[in-house]
Amino acid sequence: MRAIQVSEHGGPEVLVATEVDDPVIGPNQLLVDTEAAGVNFIDTYIRTGTYPQPVPYIPGSEGTGVVAAVGAEVTDFTVGDRVAWAAAPGSYAERVAVDTAVAVAVPDRVPAAVAASALLQGMTAHYLIESVYKPAPGETILVHAGAGGVGLLLTQLAAARDIRVITTVSTDAKEELSREAGATHVLRYGDDLAQRVRELTAGEGVAAVYDGVGAATFEASLASLRIRGMLALFGAASGQVPPFDLQRLNPAGSLFVTRPTLAHYTRDRAELTWRAGDVMNAIADGTLRVRIGAEYPLAEAAQAHRDLQARKTTGSIVLVP
Ligand SMILES: NC(=O)c1ccc[n+]([C@@H]2O[C@H](COP(=O)([O-])OP(=O)(O)OC[C@H]3O[C@@H](n4cnc5c(N)ncnc54)[C@H](OP(=O)(O)O)[C@@H]3O)[C@@H](O)[C@H]2O)c1
Repeated sequence: MRAIQVSEHGGPEVLVATEVDDPVIGPNQLLVDTEAAGVNFIDTYIRTGTYPQPVPYIPGSEGTGVVAAVGAEVTDFTVGDRVAWAAAPGSYAERVAVDTAVAVAVPDRVPAAVAASALLQGMTAHYLIESVYKPAPGETILVHAGAGGVGLLLTQLAAARDIRVITTVSTDAKEELSREAGATHVLRYGDDLAQRVRELTAGEGVAAVYDGVGAATFEASLASLRIRGMLALFGAASGQVPPFDLQRLNPAGSLFVTRPTLAHYTRDRAELTWRAGDVMNAIADGTLRVRIGAEYPLAEAAQAHRDLQARKTTGSIVLVP
């Protein structure tokens, strides 16, 4: 099969299309013909070696496709089923071995690109707003990178619950997308960001900040919180936040900071199917829109990473074998 392989950590150029053997499935795995693979920021952290990963490896963890074969002990899925997943290593490939524990059925009317990119970012948005800090209707939150994959989904989930959403974006085009998703106020990054947030909240600050940008926004995020506010630092698109003195949380308002990850919020099959079901059903009934910002041929994975890291993308992006 054709797949992307990484033989050494580095820039996007280490993502090389090559011929490799088909994966061999275990008794509780599905062999899936990939329709599309999701591209996520975490794929760039793994590619550079920021997150540990032995080489060589096939990148990607998310996708959708049609089951071509099932392992000896599989009972819940059968050949021909359409499935999606957010945690199957080696997803930048024409065929992927997917554990049944992470496979989710895809409603017929959900297009491949949407199914391939909805789960990782969608379940992240879901756990952030449902389980990390669940704002009450009328509360105000701040979401960074409001036109990104997670940002657009998180904004829609919040707006549907009558939560006031302030977002940050870098361009006018992204501002428009963020507003369409339901943002109440769209700001630019900058020195006066926290000041602007306070003006929009009558001086009080927001109940929670959902920050996937990291190094560049962390200080403004803290300074934007109300007393006992929650900072959910869920990513590092601009770089990792440096070591931090916990004592600072005290005078700043007895603040909370958490650094969550999806795996810990999809700990068992019941939690995974709850979140995935909510996301897929909302997509199928039209209440949650997944914006596919770009589709790239599988062989152009390097370009997809370049565009994602250069802030050129909006919404979700996928690779199509
Ligand atoms: N912890 C978890 O469970 C989890 C799960 C999924 C994703 N994440 C994290 O969530 C974040 C968003 O992921 P995503 O896949 O949806 O990506 P994305 O938001 O579509 O792309 C990242 C966005 O971050 C903004 N950004 C600000 N400063 C940046 C910089 N210096 N370099 C690059 N981008 C910058 C850009 O938007 P503007 O141009 O508008 O600033 C860019 O489009 C990432 O940090 C990712 O690691 C975490």
